[in-house]
Amino acid sequence: MAKPRIIVTSPIPGTAVERLCKRANVELLKKKLPSNQLAAKLANADGVLSLLTDKIDASVIAAAKKLRIISNYAVGFDNIDLKTATARSIVVTNTPGVPTVAVAEFTIMLMLAVSKRIIEADAFMRVGKYHGWDPNLLLGTELTGKTLGILGLGRIGFEVAQRAEQGLGMRVMYFDVIRNKEFEDKYPGCYHSFTDVLKTADVISLHVPLLPTTRHMIGEKELRMMKKTAYLINTARGPVVDEKALVAALRNRTIAGAGIDVYEFEPKLAAGLAKLSNVVLTPHIASSTIEARSAMADLAVDALLDFFAGKTPKNVVNKDVLGKA
Ligand code: GLV
Ligand code: GLV
Repeated sequence: MAKPRIIVTSPIPGTAVERLCKRANVELLKKKLPSNQLAAKLANADGVLSLLTDKIDASVIAAAKKLRIISNYAVGFDNIDLKTATARSIVVTNTPGVPTVAVAEFTIMLMLAVSKRIIEADAFMRVGKYHGWDPNLLLGTELTGKTLGILGLGRIGFEVAQRAEQGLGMRVMYFDVIRNKEFEDKYPGCYHSFTDVLKTADVISLHVPLLPTTRHMIGEKELRMMKKTAYLINTARGPVVDEKALVAALRNRTIAGAGIDVYEFEPKLAAGLAKLSNVVLTPHIASSTIEARSAMADLAVDALLDFFAGKTPKNVVNKDVLGKA
């Protein structure tokens, strides 16, 4: 049987792509291509290993006439037009689970970084402003005894809540459109309405996927419902927050601060965001540990190897195509 032709749109950590090369004709792209060039590359491909920055829209899918599987190197798959892929019976897979610890640790780090003003403090030292101990220097706040509000309780939200409760002594509350019984058994009374979480929590952390229903879930109105002393943490997807409204809320001290890893118009930042001292900004690296990124590579490659060996890949996100693909 001829080897499948697979496009890998970027080098990725670990040795998984080498495994793929033994069983497939792999073309490894060295630089990110705009949609029209990606479409041309995919014209003859049977499979693709894509990044969350590859926009696989209807036009790319239409050009990829032979494509049978899209293995997305991410938990989120909002970069793919799932409806169009499903209509073409193209299997779409993601890499859930393995980045959970990395993202949970990173989220806790952002909570600490913003509440302890670590980035401001580091910058202060480097420019030689430290002239001795001062009772009022860079006052922060404590997290112990405060309430963490999780919006979106999947695997990541669960792990963040556990670390906050066990490690920092925070109270936890959550809202999700799907109730999580295991979580509620562990933290009785933790389920609250969206509005109650916004009004009550001292730290709000977002862990929802990007969907039409979660786009701008946090806008001007929601930011105004939050406590003036509250922090917002986003390691989910940028467009979940109206970034322009966030800049205004941080500038006017409608909320106390934010820790942001993802951006509405990535890699661009909303005007004024980078000028604010009460926000910690990181470049979409919450899952960027050697452990997580190599395990994601293994999952993404395994999905392709399983599929072309006639097996059902593990993490199919459009299960309705199985049996038809
Ligand atoms: C990263 O943002 C991912 O979805 O894995
Ligand atoms: C992470 O793996 C998630 O899907 O919550």
